Amino acid sequence: MRWLNLLILANLGLLLSVLPALAAVSGNCVNCHTIHNSQNGQPMTFNATGPMPTLLRSNCVGCHTNSSTTETIIMLGDSRLPIVYNTIEPDYPPTGTNNSALAGGNFYWVAERGDEFGHNVFGISGPDSNLSKAPGGGFNSSCAKCHKTLASAETGSGCEGCHLPLHHKDDGQAGPAGQGDGWYRFLGSAMERGLGASSPGDRPGVMGLEDPNWEQDPTSTQHNVYKGTDVIYSEAYYANHNSIGEFCQGCHYDFHRLMNTNMVDLSGAWIRHPSDVILPDDPDLEYVGYNTYNPLAPVAKQTLPNIPTDAVVAGEDVVTCISCHRPHGSPYPDMLRWDYLNDCTASVPDSNANPCGCFACHTTKDGF
Ligand code: HEC
Ligand code: HEC
Ligand code: HEC
Ligand code: HEC
Ligand code: HEC
Ligand code: HEC
Ligand code: HEC
Repeated sequence: MRWLNLLILANLGLLLSVLPALAAVSGNCVNCHTIHNSQNGQPMTFNATGPMPTLLRSNCVGCHTNSSTTETIIMLGDSRLPIVYNTIEPDYPPTGTNNSALAGGNFYWVAERGDEFGHNVFGISGPDSNLSKAPGGGFNSSCAKCHKTLASAETGSGCEGCHLPLHHKDDGQAGPAGQGDGWYRFLGSAMERGLGASSPGDRPGVMGLEDPNWEQDPTSTQHNVYKGTDVIYSEAYYANHNSIGEFCQGCHYDFHRLMNTNMVDLSGAWIRHPSDVILPDDPDLEYVGYNTYNPLAPVAKQTLPNIPTDAVVAGEDVVTCISCHRPHGSPYPDMLRWDYLNDCTASVPDSNANPCGCFACHTTKDGF
């Protein structure tokens, strides 16, 4: 895998120098597809193997890996290609350098540092040595390739255990991504396709506003906007309320379903951290102090705006799984967004150098 991207660049150079007109006329198809896997008698797949399904020039991991530099957005013809796996350590947290890990995090750490630093996915790492199923969830037999591990060689595991990338179209369209765009970041019902459904994209998926730079350079006004919900959902196959929290709980269901002693109205005691739950707007509670959006500890919105804003509103906005986790991986155990083991100390003030995202919402717990 490690030499793939050098070959991508080499092959593209060749292709574009021989066929400048084709690239212009055929739009972007040529960036990703090959019709015969042959040009001037040479294979057009990036790894020079045989023809690939859907006439693609590589597979998910092959395209979305950068094994030559720490850059996290690279050019593939005229397409900007977001990198989710750098084999050289990217910058974290993202600061706007070309080497900043994107919103989902990066698979570098699970590959290089250990199983607890990310989802173990096929093509990047073997099965997790500590976890024999998704904590809080897990189904056997044909369901195991997604619900017990994402590192199975079976079709539908790996990246495709979560993503339903039927569209692969350009970003930057106005307004929230929904069904017509292949859902937010292609988070449609991967399960439906994994189980053989004919039109999986018709099932409810995740909605959201997509930052065109995939949060390589996030600020309080420039960021993804995630959909959350205050509906107290229990088991449901799909993200019926289009929230990113429902998507995570699809495989980790007990971490949502069993988070309060009284699931009916959440009036009981928290026994797991709340998720898809509204920040209380009680002026006596610390949550009203979280006013300005912090991309390190995002909240989700019940109603998606057309452009991102810096406002966080208690009584409306929602804490969710990715308030604390990066879905691909991070430099910290449990793929947490910040160094929870070392930087979250009660009554020690938060700092930009060693940030603790818990303090974004628990605004008084750093003693100030
Ligand atoms: C950025 C990369 C990229 C570009 C550009 C691209 N595709 Fe695709 N295409 C894909 C991927 C990835 C899949 C496989 C999706 C999957 O397996 O879920 C795919 C699948 C397909 C399919 C089969 C599934 C379907 O939707 O019917 C067709 C047909 C297709 N592409 C045609 C095209 C055409 C024509 C163009 C140019 C107008 C194009 N693609 C441009 C990446 C791309
Ligand atoms: C031939 C190269 C290629 C292959 C193969 C490919 N991708 Fe992509 N992918 C791209 C490019 C280029 C983009 C950026 C498209 C854009 O936003 O203009 C992209 C974008 C994405 C995005 C982000 C969409 C967004 O909203 O910005 C996801 C998620 C993704 N790919 C997942 C996958 C998965 C999963 C597979 C395997 C089924 C896959 N890709 C296969 C090239 C590829
Ligand atoms: C398709 C099923 C699936 C979905 C969806 C899913 N996970 Fe997982 N998750 C797993 C499996 C399987 C494991 C255990 C093996 C591993 O770590 O890869 C796991 C492990 C984890 C771990 C522990 C990592 C470790 O190795 O210690 C965390 C944290 C996690 N998931 C968070 C999330 C979050 C957050 C989301 C939503 C963005 C999510 N998961 C969505 C299947 C899933
Ligand atoms: C456990 C589920 C899961 C798995 C497995 C997974 N992704 Fe993702 N991916 C997500 C989520 C959730 C997001 C949205 C992150 C955000 O916006 O905060 C995402 C975002 C992305 C993006 C947009 C860039 C970014 O960081 O936001 C790309 C590209 C992508 N994924 C490709 C892949 C590829 C390629 C693989 C396999 C190597 C993969 N994903 C495996 C859940 C997953
Ligand atoms: C290709 C990967 C994949 C396969 C195979 C798969 N699932 Fe899933 N499953 C997911 C994902 C991803 C979600 C969450 C996203 C969604 O809402 O569709 C999910 C969600 C679920 C949920 C919703 C949980 C809840 O409480 O809301 C149930 C139940 C479920 N799956 C059962 C199964 C069973 C049973 C099988 C086998 C017959 C199976 N899945 C096979 C990926 C898969
Ligand atoms: C407030 C922050 C926060 C939220 C919200 C959160 N988590 Fe976690 N998660 C953590 C921390 C911290 C850990 C480390 C273990 C612990 O402290 O219990 C963890 C651990 C995990 C693990 C690893 C468990 C293991 O046995 O290794 C999984 C899986 C996980 N979370 C999934 C989720 C899912 C799914 C959601 C949403 C339903 C979620 N988390 C919401 C902070 C959070
Ligand atoms: C995005 C906002 C957010 C983040 C980030 C966050 N929390 Fe919370 N936390 C909440 C909300 C909201 C509640 C529930 C408030 C309520 O309804 O009483 C809560 C509840 C709690 C509780 C239980 C309080 C009780 O009354 O039972 C603890 C403990 C806690 N959080 C610890 C943490 C830790 C530790 C972290 C960092 C790993 C963290 N939280 C990160 C929003 C957040």
